Amino acid sequence: MASPYNIASARAQPNIAIVKYWGNRDHRLRLPANSSLSMNLADLHTTTTVRWSADLLDDRLTINGKSPTVAALQRVQTHLDSLRRRLGTKRRAQVDSRNNFPMGAGIASSASAFAALTMAAVAALRQDMSQRELTTLARLGSGSAARSIPGGFVEWRAADSHEESYAETIAPADHWQLDDVIAIVSDQHKRVGSTSGHASASSSLFQPARVETAMQRLREAKQAIAQRDFERLARVAEADSNLMHAVMMTSSPPLFYWQPLTLAVMAAVRNWREAEGLRVCYTLDAGPNVHCICAADDALAVAARMADLSPEIAILRSPVGGGAVVLPN
Ligand code: PMV
Repeated sequence: MASPYNIASARAQPNIAIVKYWGNRDHRLRLPANSSLSMNLADLHTTTTVRWSADLLDDRLTINGKSPTVAALQRVQTHLDSLRRRLGTKRRAQVDSRNNFPMGAGIASSASAFAALTMAAVAALRQDMSQRELTTLARLGSGSAARSIPGGFVEWRAADSHEESYAETIAPADHWQLDDVIAIVSDQHKRVGSTSGHASASSSLFQPARVETAMQRLREAKQAIAQRDFERLARVAEADSNLMHAVMMTSSPPLFYWQPLTLAVMAAVRNWREAEGLRVCYTLDAGPNVHCICAADDALAVAARMADLSPEIAILRSPVGGGAVVLPN
């Protein structure tokens, strides 16, 4: 007799993009306007348990042990519908998800959340699936989640079809000892999430220019990573982050994620690099916190300087991490 339920847990890490994803060519399938490149963050993670059950009448979700907002539940249900179609099940799911880092503040909790959810949901039904296909399924929940399935430094390809827009490792986590020292200037949940940001990206006059030149920056970033050339990585990461925020600020409605402390950290980072010779650069996602990517040897010096900047800054630190994994029962 078939078991009344199937259960599995998976763990995934958020990623920080060096070449950003902003805007879609297809919103429903989350096919991105441009290819992007990121690194996973080893010490931050989301752990998710999925239990598919014939007895449940509706999908259920807890996040950090609490009931989610209606919007969060709907987004997860929509993703579970996509998974049900692919996995050939009508069962509803109980989903329990926990993060060890603050959500919705420019540390991509949706990336690790949808990567862990997808991985656990597939594993719970004991179905074999290639990593490539897992990345395309995770992408349907949150675009950047595709990049949290493979490990290390990851490229996600822009393409016109669901199958072709997948993510893959371009270098393993131990290829280059980099750390992300994150300046948390606010842990408030962001007011405008990335889904509506992607939808308004094309209203900026700058978005076509950003998208047209993204492949150039991607090639540059890949070479910098291959050669472990920090100066080159710093130039391209900061330029790409500035470009994405220029698009955000000039979209309709305009999106301003920066706060005064955000700018203070960005200016300080340039100074630490240019005047003091620390191997550090900044990049920001859709939030006010500043990700300072640095050579692991310089991470303590960066964190100490960051702490001196303001008592209001909280600091998170993580080396480059591996991919999403199914946890033993
Ligand atoms: O996956 P989403 O919809 O949360 O979009 C992420 C967008 C950025 O974090 C701003 C950039 C990126 O490439 O991660």
